[in-house]
Amino acid sequence: MKPKILITRKIFAEALALVQAGCEVEDNQGDVPLPSEVLIQRLQDKQGAMTLLADRMDEAGIARCPQLKIIANVAVGYNNIAVEACTRRGIMVTNTPGVLDDTTADFTWTLMLATARRIVEADRHLRSARWTGWKLMEFLGCDIHHQTLGICGFGRIGQRVARRAHGFEMKILYTDVMRARPEIEAELGAVFVDKPTLLRTADFVTLHVPLIPQTTHYISGPELALMKPTAILINAARGPVVDEKALVQALLAGKIAGAGLDVYEKEPAVEPELLAMNNVVLAPHIASASLQTRLRMSTMAAENLLAGLAGKRPPNLVNEAVFPR
Ligand code: DGY
Repeated sequence: MKPKILITRKIFAEALALVQAGCEVEDNQGDVPLPSEVLIQRLQDKQGAMTLLADRMDEAGIARCPQLKIIANVAVGYNNIAVEACTRRGIMVTNTPGVLDDTTADFTWTLMLATARRIVEADRHLRSARWTGWKLMEFLGCDIHHQTLGICGFGRIGQRVARRAHGFEMKILYTDVMRARPEIEAELGAVFVDKPTLLRTADFVTLHVPLIPQTTHYISGPELALMKPTAILINAARGPVVDEKALVQALLAGKIAGAGLDVYEKEPAVEPELLAMNNVVLAPHIASASLQTRLRMSTMAAENLLAGLAGKRPPNLVNEAVFPR
């Protein structure tokens, strides 16, 4: 008998076909988010779940899914899943690392360029027929080339952001809980500094830390106060890494010059003040959203799911303790 699985949202046909070949699939191609209670009810007789990062799989819910063997998240982040609770119950949790690093780094640069050069604001201006012709003093942004880039979190994505900075001849600083190997620092031309030094020095501060208790509000009032009034903050990591209310205050007070955000503390809600600010570029959590990458994320999650259900170690197992090597 094929294992039963639930796919919580719309996924690519290629990934759906993969799982359908090995599983009895209940899916939600309507793509309307399932309320938590409905999600848990539909998982009661399932051995597998393919989830998106908006699906909350908390401890109480997981405890009510007695058959569940694996949760395959279609994301590299898995802060939507109570991983420790899964481990205690022997439930495998998988993610999709690696395939989205370059795409997310590209998008980080998209946000950086868009915010510094005021492109969204300028586009709105033109479309609303307010452009009256070339003016010397109109839409003055700030340079990116030869400025200092501060990267917080120097993992796979942070390092790819650094690599792209070379074309702009930037000075690159980074901070992390662990210093990178000397050959990586040398190759990327990146200088390790402590967090306050980075915040005080960088013209662009970009966040690439995972969301864990220690990084919740990694940037809040005191950190924003250290930044230059000309600095721009970029967040394509996770919303709660930035204290959104403190960010609003800092922007209103001119403590920093602008922000480019892809993620929010309480998605899909956004602090209302941000919506009215021209020096803020807001994207709806799309850093990994290229066709190629989202397709690969989906098939990778399908491969993880199928491996786990076949009693094999999934290639991207997050909680190693459930299936030691
Ligand atoms: C992730 O994968 O964690 C991103 O936030 C969405 O691609």
